[in-house]
Amino acid sequence: MRFPFFGKKDDGAGQVDFGHLPRHIAVIMDGNGRWARRRGLPRSAGHKAGAETFRTIATYCREIGLDYLTVYAFSTENWKRPPEEVEAIMDLLARYLQEAIETMARDNVRLKFLGDMTPLRPDLRALIDETNRISAGLDGCQANICLNYGGRDEIVHAVSELVRLGETDINEDTIAAHLYTAGIPDPDLIIRPSGELRLSNFLLWQCAYSEFYFTNVLWPDFSKEELHRAIAAYQQRDRRYGGVKK
Ligand code: IPE
Ligand code: IPE
Ligand code: MG
Repeated sequence: MRFPFFGKKDDGAGQVDFGHLPRHIAVIMDGNGRWARRRGLPRSAGHKAGAETFRTIATYCREIGLDYLTVYAFSTENWKRPPEEVEAIMDLLARYLQEAIETMARDNVRLKFLGDMTPLRPDLRALIDETNRISAGLDGCQANICLNYGGRDEIVHAVSELVRLGETDINEDTIAAHLYTAGIPDPDLIIRPSGELRLSNFLLWQCAYSEFYFTNVLWPDFSKEELHRAIAAYQQRDRRYGGVKK
């Protein structure tokens, strides 16, 4: 199925088969700092621009009917940054959550936070609790925000939970059921902008058979056009999962 009205400005939509979208796209929202530096702006300005891009892309993913969008917003390693940068990121997040609380029911967007929320500021934790409460009554597109998230931390946390519960049946299903992503299908497509060719501790367990798309575009400049390119590239891939082509 193709939606011709999406392709008016030659934004690459014509290359995308909207009837066979990946079910779950994950994005490492990287390059905010470099975007700002190139403009002689403070890094916080890059994070602000990156938050705008997140709004645009998340809205578009909802419009095209994507089931799951997962974004890497703050890693377990990002606490190493200067406190004022961490604070700026947390402030932007609080602002986004305040807006989301107003609009998510109208837009039927569920929000889920992946990561260890315990070290976060109390105001943020309260906003997260509120979005979780609203999400429980919705059934639309799900946006997962990875916050204080680390793939290794997630696996350690899952295994600790299994030990705590006295679980002796350790297998892929029981581990997956205790990850932050329990119940969410693995990402079909992982996009990393900014030119870095690494995962930086993102979805280490879940990416086993994900397709990857790397682009030099910095996250604040990421557009629907770039998303179309990523999806079109994904649609050309041959996913074999270790098997052979029929
Ligand atoms: C990604 O952009 C945002 C976070 C990690 C919170 P960066 O801040 O890492 O931007 P670069 O990589 O320095 O350009
Ligand atoms: C990964 O980006 C984390 C987020 C985008 C939230 P980083 O900028 O922290 O990763 P490295 O340091 O380049 O690997
Ligand atoms: Mg970075």
